[in-house]
Amino acid sequence: MYRFIFLSVFLLIFTGFPVYQVLSGSDNEHAAKLWDMMQKDDYRDTWKHYPGKGVLYKGAHPHGAFLTTYVNGPALKGLNAHNKELPYGSILIKENYKPDKTLAAITVMERVKGYNLDAGDWYWVKFSPKGDVMTKDVEMDGKKKTVTLAGKPKGCIGCHTASVAGIKYIMTPYPK
Ligand code: HEC
Repeated sequence: MYRFIFLSVFLLIFTGFPVYQVLSGSDNEHAAKLWDMMQKDDYRDTWKHYPGKGVLYKGAHPHGAFLTTYVNGPALKGLNAHNKELPYGSILIKENYKPDKTLAAITVMERVKGYNLDAGDWYWVKFSPKGDVMTKDVEMDGKKKTVTLAGKPKGCIGCHTASVAGIKYIMTPYPK
């Protein structure tokens, strides 16, 4: 046990990312922290693109005409190892562009241990280009409702369950 604690502290101090993290605060608070981290990390300059994809590749419905997707270290490791499920701590940031190549939204997935075991432990959020959490108007049981797109939105989860990439909840085709 002591050895594990020692190793965890060691990894946290020397590699900068925790062995596992627990989401604290509300889904919206987490979104704000995530956005802050993305800016501090300067992900556009320091993260890698999704394997096999470059800048402004052609997207499929519903995300945008053109997409640019960035992955952090743990996600890249999992993708390159052809894991069937990406490791905890994985973050994927996808920028969604309109046909005229202006930025419309930024959708992010983060795998957080213990967050939502029923759906692969992914935290989902859709940001406006300025970093505000976006909402969506839906109709449920004949009533109009506004859903906040942060946390466990049914829409994101429902579609991504298809796991098109052959990796749980991941949709972007991966080079063979
Ligand atoms: C109707 C289906 C659908 C819905 C709803 C949907 N997505 Fe996606 N998502 C996709 C597809 C298809 C791709 C692959 C994009 C491509 O390469 O064209 C994708 C890719 C992604 C990626 C890149 C990683 C991956 O899985 O490939 C992220 C991040 C993402 N979506 C986040 C979200 C978030 C957040 C929501 C909810 C706000 C959401 N998605 C809702 C279909 C969907």
